[in-house]
Amino acid sequence: MVIAVDGPAASGKGTLSRRLCTYYGLSYLDTGILYRGVGWILLSQNLDPRHEEDAARVARAFSLDQIDGADIRTPDVSRASSIVAAQPEVRAALLEFQRDFAAHPPKGSNGVVLDGRDIGTVVCPDALVKLYISASPEERAKRRWLELEKRDNAMGLDAVLEDIRRRDARDSGRATAPMRPATDAHFIDTTTLDADAVFARACRHIDQAL
Ligand code: C5P
Repeated sequence: MVIAVDGPAASGKGTLSRRLCTYYGLSYLDTGILYRGVGWILLSQNLDPRHEEDAARVARAFSLDQIDGADIRTPDVSRASSIVAAQPEVRAALLEFQRDFAAHPPKGSNGVVLDGRDIGTVVCPDALVKLYISASPEERAKRRWLELEKRDNAMGLDAVLEDIRRRDARDSGRATAPMRPATDAHFIDTTTLDADAVFARACRHIDQAL
């Protein structure tokens, strides 16, 4: 069983995906970690994420243990991840990792949840259920700002909103695997929904498909 969860930054995909994993006994891959990982490695080596050859080389050699303990949730890494994510060679290198996880779920689990931007459209087009989770940019900026505040980040709400808008535009405007709902995705707008309500809607779609 493969569940695809796509949507923009701070839409609530991660919270939902983790709850679905616990409830249905599934294993979770947050695919954003892979792009963040490549971005973080480049920045930590003082390399420019816009430099496609460096980014492709890092992506081809990437493994999760390289980012063990790294802080991949900073605004700089968010920006770098969306820059490398627009590069076809980076995406091709990371695609195999994601498909392999979906095809060989860890022992003991009933399947997988992958969350990202192109899971329903490119990575797992045959997923049992595809969910597209979104919310207004203002609401998402507020959520991200609250998260960053807990981590002592001094960015103002306006700057966070600006970053989110820029990342949305880059993620949906790129030529390779742009962020968009699959034609058979169920759309959930979380702007005015709490986590319980989002979870209940997602479960309804999954239970119908089982
Ligand atoms: O989901 P998260 O915000 O952690 O992802 C970081 C960046 O990685 C996104 O802005 C996007 O550019 C990229 N990404 C992607 N495709 C995915 C997952 C993430 O392009 N499946």
